[in-house]
Amino acid sequence: MHTVEVCFTPEDYHLYKKDNQAVVVIDVLRATSVICSALYHGVSKVIPVETLEDAEKYLDKGYLVAGERNGEKVKSFALGNSPLAFVSGEYHGHELVISTTNGTRAINTAMDAEQLLIGSLLNAQSIINHLLIQEMDVLLLCSGWKGKTNLEDSICAGYIAQQLKESKRFESEEDSTLISINLFESAQTNPYSFLKGSSHRRRLLKLGLAKDIKFCLKANALDIVPYYSSGIICKL
Ligand code: MLT
Repeated sequence: MHTVEVCFTPEDYHLYKKDNQAVVVIDVLRATSVICSALYHGVSKVIPVETLEDAEKYLDKGYLVAGERNGEKVKSFALGNSPLAFVSGEYHGHELVISTTNGTRAINTAMDAEQLLIGSLLNAQSIINHLLIQEMDVLLLCSGWKGKTNLEDSICAGYIAQQLKESKRFESEEDSTLISINLFESAQTNPYSFLKGSSHRRRLLKLGLAKDIKFCLKANALDIVPYYSSGIICKL
């Protein structure tokens, strides 16, 4: 029997990390959804960097650079943080560098994990299928918002945790995991309306990004398992 647990913020990662653990970083709105969409639609690799200064260093080297702070596109970068930007296949074959407020920070926080995967509602089922054959403990690491818990990442973590527990090959001990599963069960029929009033839905709506939110909430739309190794995220 293996364990599956949920960690609500990167700040708490040290409390949950273990050896031989697969960590799934989740930032439903929107960083990990963007990474899934980019790789699914043909981007060859994604380099997640924590600071804007680090991302800027790639501008002159021919990389496609994307990033946001507080949801708003960084002016000097080609792209912001929209999963829809990749859907047309326009960036097929490009190498993408991305820096976001919370998601890329969470990825870099967990870079010491034995296995580091990128999860979202878009690819939840593919992540579940992959984890079911790994023989590893699993930690679902939510990106949250600047050290605070958020609803959408917790719901996605709850979905993955629930499915793993239902397989009878995983168990959990932490209340954070129970909370997430309960949230998912309440939210699953209409996640968009469940998120009404949530901080980041509000923030993105103010920026006119309703289409992004709706896209990111399409559960299991993309069959992809993005995998981080030595600073680079590729398709498994
Ligand atoms: C983040 O990393 O905090 C998010 O992806 C923010 C956003 O929606 O752009």
